[in-house]
Amino acid sequence: MSTSAEDRSALLAIAVDIAREAGRVAAEGQAGIDVLATKSTPTDVVTEMDRAVEELIRKRVLAQRPDDSVLGEEGAEETGGSGVRWVVDPIDGTVNYLYGREDWAVCIAVEHAGETVAAVVAAPVRGDLYTATLGGGAYCNGERLRVADPVPLEMALVATGFGYSARRRAQQAEVLRTVLPRVRDIRRGGSAAVDLCGVARGRTNAYYERGLNPWDWGAAALIAQEAGARVGGLHGAPPNPDLTIAAPPGLFEELHDLLVGLGADTDGPEEG
Ligand code: IPD
Ligand code: CA
Ligand code: CA
Ligand code: CA
Repeated sequence: MSTSAEDRSALLAIAVDIAREAGRVAAEGQAGIDVLATKSTPTDVVTEMDRAVEELIRKRVLAQRPDDSVLGEEGAEETGGSGVRWVVDPIDGTVNYLYGREDWAVCIAVEHAGETVAAVVAAPVRGDLYTATLGGGAYCNGERLRVADPVPLEMALVATGFGYSARRRAQQAEVLRTVLPRVRDIRRGGSAAVDLCGVARGRTNAYYERGLNPWDWGAAALIAQEAGARVGGLHGAPPNPDLTIAAPPGLFEELHDLLVGLGADTDGPEEG
């Protein structure tokens, strides 16, 4: 069974309430925050607040919807039988958060039968609350979002991001070396979700990144898509860890073809 527009709005309302609270808690805890632990590499950090905010979101979701599943960046997946899954990035842009910067966001995507049906990206320091429902459009603070008018690749402002491993970064630098002279300019904002919402809002023309996880793109991909962007991986695939691209149709294909040619979905040759 699929969800109705009413179901999606009801799920969005729950997600918005929870994301607002989580964003408030995270914003209040930003000053003086320190690294709690490192993950895949010494630069892949987690703070106390990443874990606390994810815990808060899990608690709030399961209190209202005990049969749903929750997948978050910082914890193990909890599985319920309802067919609804909440995909959570408690703080997307942890490095920005750590440095007292503004571009970080609480991200909540609600999936039904594997499809994202409602999404919220809350960037509280910026005062931006992005929302979308499947088929219902994308909004920022209640204002309808539209991607920028189409431009050719050489006139495109393109956002991107980099993974944490040295090998992956070396390959990403190689890709960037070719992309940079072919576009208007590059932006590296530090939050994949805010980057995708930037495409939705027409503040950049396009975005690409290798190495994302479902919690990074889940909510923001629906927001970009509902604002008129095409969001996907290579060769017609949905967004995935190999590559996520977002851009209006036309520009998407141009950027896609360039990235395919550069092997942007690989980590380059083995070291050693
Ligand atoms: C990271 C951010 C960053 C992107 C990294 C992500 P996190 O998420 O979205 O912009 O370049 O690939 O891992 O760790 O801050 O939630
Ligand atoms: Ca992280
Ligand atoms: Ca993230
Ligand atoms: Ca995170």
